[in-house]
Amino acid sequence: MKRIALTLTAIFAAATAFAQVHQLDINLKKPGAAIQPTMYGIFFEDINYAADGGLYAELVKNRSFEFPADALQGWKAFGKVEVRNDGPFERNPHYVRLMDPGHPHKWTGLDNEGFFGIGIKGGEQYRFSVWARVPDGGSSELRIELVNTAAMGENHFLCQETLKIAGKEWKKYQVILSPKSSLGKSVLRIFLTGKRTTTDLEHVSLFPVDTWMGHENGLRKDLAQALADLHPGIFRFPGGCIVEGTDLETRYQWKNTVGPVENRPLNENRWEYTFPHRFYPDYYQSYGLGFFEFFLLSEEIGSEPLPILSCGLACQFQNESADAHVHVDELQPYIQDALDLIEFANGPADSKWGGVRAEMGHPAPFNLKFIGIGNEQWDSIYPEHLEPFLKAIRAAHPEIKIVGSSGPDSEGRQFDYLWPEMKRLKADLVDEHFYRPYDWFLAQGARYDNYDRKGPKVFAGEYACHAKGRKWNHFYASLLEAAFMTGIERNADVVHMATYAPLFAHIEGWQWRPDLIWYDNLRSFRTVSWHVQQLYGEYRGTNTLKLTMNGANVTGAEGQDGLFASAVLDGNKIYVKVVNTADSPREISLNFTGLKKKANVKAVKGVRLASTELYSDNSLEDPARIEPAGFTFTGEGKTISETVPAYSFNIFVLEK
Ligand code: AHR
Repeated sequence: MKRIALTLTAIFAAATAFAQVHQLDINLKKPGAAIQPTMYGIFFEDINYAADGGLYAELVKNRSFEFPADALQGWKAFGKVEVRNDGPFERNPHYVRLMDPGHPHKWTGLDNEGFFGIGIKGGEQYRFSVWARVPDGGSSELRIELVNTAAMGENHFLCQETLKIAGKEWKKYQVILSPKSSLGKSVLRIFLTGKRTTTDLEHVSLFPVDTWMGHENGLRKDLAQALADLHPGIFRFPGGCIVEGTDLETRYQWKNTVGPVENRPLNENRWEYTFPHRFYPDYYQSYGLGFFEFFLLSEEIGSEPLPILSCGLACQFQNESADAHVHVDELQPYIQDALDLIEFANGPADSKWGGVRAEMGHPAPFNLKFIGIGNEQWDSIYPEHLEPFLKAIRAAHPEIKIVGSSGPDSEGRQFDYLWPEMKRLKADLVDEHFYRPYDWFLAQGARYDNYDRKGPKVFAGEYACHAKGRKWNHFYASLLEAAFMTGIERNADVVHMATYAPLFAHIEGWQWRPDLIWYDNLRSFRTVSWHVQQLYGEYRGTNTLKLTMNGANVTGAEGQDGLFASAVLDGNKIYVKVVNTADSPREISLNFTGLKKKANVKAVKGVRLASTELYSDNSLEDPARIEPAGFTFTGEGKTISETVPAYSFNIFVLEK
C-alpha cells in the first residue's frame, strides 16, 4: 500500500514538473539599452585556407613563382623551363621562361595544381590572365587549357584557348575559358605552341568571371554571400594569430597588401606549420585579398570594418624570449602603420594613403571607426606596448575607438590582470576570447550581468563551443552558443560586439575546427553555428527588454530547468529568444507587463532551430540537414503560452 502511494506521488511529481509552466515576464514599459548595430559580426582570419584557396577566388597557386622553398611549388614544368628573378614586379621578382624544347615532338609548358585542385563549373566563364613578353622580340603563341588528368576519354582538356604574345615589353594578356562540364580538381595547363618562341610569364592567374559583385580581383560568390546573409554588423580582419606572425618578420603588414596585386609580396602563413600533425607545406598568403578588399567587402555587406594590427609583439604562444618582440622604444614604425591605416581608410583622396585607396578605385573614404591594437596578447609587455599606440591614435584621431585584448583566456590570471589594465589605459573595447567546453557555456549565461558598466565595452572577439572529445561542428555545441548569446543580448549595454571564430574552412585544408562555413572547391555549406549567428543577426532588434522568470534573469541557472532567454524590441516588433538546453520540452508563457490596460501583444510568427541529432551538423552532401524552420504560435493578449521542444532555440516574433 505504502509502495503504491509512493509511486503515485512520484508520477504526480513528474507530471507536475512536465506541466510546470515557466512564466517569462517581459517588461514593455520602457525599452532598455540600445543594441549596437555592431553587435553580431564576423571574424576573418586566413586559417584553414580561408583566403587563398577559399574566399579569395584566385584559382592558381603560387601565381608569382615566389614560394620560397621552391619557386615552382604548385607547378609541374615540362620541356625547357627556367625560373628567373629579374621580373617586372620589384617585390615579386621571379618569373618563368618557356623555351623551345629542342625537338618537334617535345613540348614546353606548365601545369598548375591549384588549391587541392582547380574547381570549375560547366557553363561558367573563367578569366585567364598573365603578364608576358617575348624577350627576343616578335611574337609567340600559348595554348591555355583546363584539363582533367584523370579523364578516360580521348582528350584530357575541358576547354582550350590560344593566346598570342607580342613584343619585348611586359604586358598583361587575358583570355576567357568556358568549360562545358564541372570538375572539382582540374589542372591549368599552359603549352608553348606555334614556333615555340621563347616567352616569359609572370603572375599567372585564373578567376571565375562571376565573382562576388563582379570584381576582377574578386571573391568566391557563394562564400561572400554566406557572409552577407549573416547581416554582420562588424567585420574583424585579418585575424587572429596571423596579425602577430610566428616572428615579427612574418606578421601581417597591411601596407604589403594594397596597391596592384602583382606587386604585393608573398608572406608565410603561420598556420602552415602551427600544427605538425596537420601540416600544410604550401600555405602562404598571396595578399591578393588585402586591406582594400577587406574594406570593400565590409562596405558591400553593410558591416563596420575592424582591422586588427600588430602591436609589435610576435605570437606569444610561439615566442618566450623578449627579444622576439619590438622594444617599446622602437615602436614608432608600428604606430605609424596604424596612423597611416586610418589615413588609408578615411583620408582624403589627395592625402598619401587616401590617394592609394583612391587609385585602387575607392575615392570616397571607408569611414573606419574602430581599430584593434594587438591580437591575443598578455603579460605586462602588452599594456606597455599598447600605451604608446593609444596616445598617438587618441592625439591624431580621437574619433577612432580602440580595441585592446584580455588575452587568450576567458578568466584566470591574465584575464584578471589585463581587464584592469585596459580600464586604466581607457581602451574603448576589450577583446575577449573563449573556445570553451559544454559546461563552460552552460554556466556562463550570466557572464556579463555584473560587468562594470563604467569601464571599456566588451568585444567577444573569438568564441565557439569546443566539446571535449568532440571538437568538431555539431548541433548541441551550436545550441549552447545560442544559449550563451542570450546573455550577450541581455547585456547589450556592455557587450558591443561578438564574433564567432574561426569563420572558414576548406575540407581538405583545415587546421582548426569547429568553423562557421565549410567548403570544397565547388560547394559550401553553412553550419548550425552559422544559423545561430544568422538568427541573432536577423533578429538583433534595437533595444533590450527586461525578461525575468521569478524575478531572475533566465541564464540556465539552477532551478531554471535548462532555459536561457532574452528579449529585444525592434520598432513595434518584439523578439523573444528562448533556448531549451534540456532533454525534454518546457511549457512557457510569455507574460507581457508594462502595457496599458487595453493594449495587447499579438503573435506574428516563430522561428526554431531544433534537432534530436545532437552530434550531427550540415555537410557538403547534406547542406540543409539542420536548418531553422518557421512554426506558428497564436494568441493575442498579455500572456501567450507555448511549448518549446527539447534542445531547441526558439525565436518568438510578436507585435505590440
Ligand atoms: O581562431 C583561431 C586562433 O585562436 C586565432 O588565430 C587566435 O587569436 C586564437 O588563439
